[in-house]
Amino acid sequence: MSKFMDWIDARFPATSMWEDHLSKYYAPKNFNFFYFFGSLALLVLVNQIVTGVWLTMSYTPSAEEAFASVEYIMRDVEYGSILRLLHSTGASAFFIVVYLHMFRGLLYGSYQKPRELVWIFGMLIYLALMAEAFMGYLLPWGQMSYWGAQVIISLFGAIPIIGNDLTQWIRGDYLISGITLNRFFALHVVALPIVILGLVVLHVLALHEVGSNNPDGVDIKKLKDENGKPLDGIAFHPYYTVKDIVGVVVFLFIFCSVVFFFPEMGGYFLEKPNFEQANAFKTPEHIAPVWYFTPFYAILRAIPDKLMGVMAMGAAIAVLFVLPWLDRSPVKSMRYKGWLSRIWLLLFCVAFVILGILGVLPPSPGRALLSQVCTAVYFAYFILMPFYTRIEKTKPVPERVTG
Ligand code: HEM
Repeated sequence: MSKFMDWIDARFPATSMWEDHLSKYYAPKNFNFFYFFGSLALLVLVNQIVTGVWLTMSYTPSAEEAFASVEYIMRDVEYGSILRLLHSTGASAFFIVVYLHMFRGLLYGSYQKPRELVWIFGMLIYLALMAEAFMGYLLPWGQMSYWGAQVIISLFGAIPIIGNDLTQWIRGDYLISGITLNRFFALHVVALPIVILGLVVLHVLALHEVGSNNPDGVDIKKLKDENGKPLDGIAFHPYYTVKDIVGVVVFLFIFCSVVFFFPEMGGYFLEKPNFEQANAFKTPEHIAPVWYFTPFYAILRAIPDKLMGVMAMGAAIAVLFVLPWLDRSPVKSMRYKGWLSRIWLLLFCVAFVILGILGVLPPSPGRALLSQVCTAVYFAYFILMPFYTRIEKTKPVPERVTG
């Protein structure tokens, strides 16, 4: 075995990669619950790719046959219904996991120096993931697929001068048609998965270059033993590989319960109108995007002017990219930040959840006002951050990690 490994190592850096990223990658010993979600995101990504490849074997990307081919997968293809529900539930699980993963970043200041690029690669993954989910949703060619895509693509029409040409260019037709379905299929199945996989590699490489943050925000590289191993670090393998397996088991238990018993999740994971084939002549009574887009959809609707709404929605995502430069706090973790940071993070999360709920509900004057207030809170969290993180009193950060 060792001779075989020597042969490989002389030709490919297998052992050194294993050591650099696993057996000699020292991670802080105080990782908590929130640190499960990076490896879980990887697990869900693999689930999406594997089930996606098998779905593609029986799916037909044409306006005439797409809907029927999905019904065929659900009824006739062996294990087809499980494959499809693993994929559709996986899409929602992906966003739950990624939102918790991002929340951890906000909580412990993981985006701060020197992890700005880790955060930016993460944000690019998030953008690609949104595009991936949006295009995937058109493929079953149900009513909500069709009309959801119609609403979102027509937003580009609000852009002055080029708007109309742009929407036509995206659709490839004067209305959403089989041509749109075909190009969304190509992007969903080939182009975007490659982009996402590439970005995930960059994300993890950037993280391993600087090392992981932790719930205390303490730099574990400062204190090392005589062999150069951080005093507060433990080898990722076997310690965190084993710990992550526990997270994977718990996650799979919950995930499979949803797949087997509540795959529609009350219409949130699979929306009711999507059980009816797309019909360009019949608009559903109430069009709402899938739950993971609804906070941004609510921001869009909060602003009466269409162009301003589109710009606010774009800005709501764009502002996350510059987060590392908005936080001026001398400490990373919420454990040592002051009350202002804590209150603003809480307000931000509450506003985000309320916007998410408002985004699925039909509009009313009262709800419009609430969504405007929440949009203001959402942006205030970021715009005021350079001020409240600088003026507040922080607690002293310990030398070593706690607990
Ligand atoms: C496909 C999606 C993603 C995958 C597979 C992924 C994977 C990972 C993994 C394996 C880690 C190390 C383990 C951990 O700290 O939990 C990590 C860390 C990190 N990720 Fe992601 N990630 C994804 C999306 C994102 C997004 C959308 C963001 C934020 C915009 C993000 C920001 C971060 C940050 C800041 C860290 C360092 C955390 C720390 O050291 O405290 N990631 N990611």
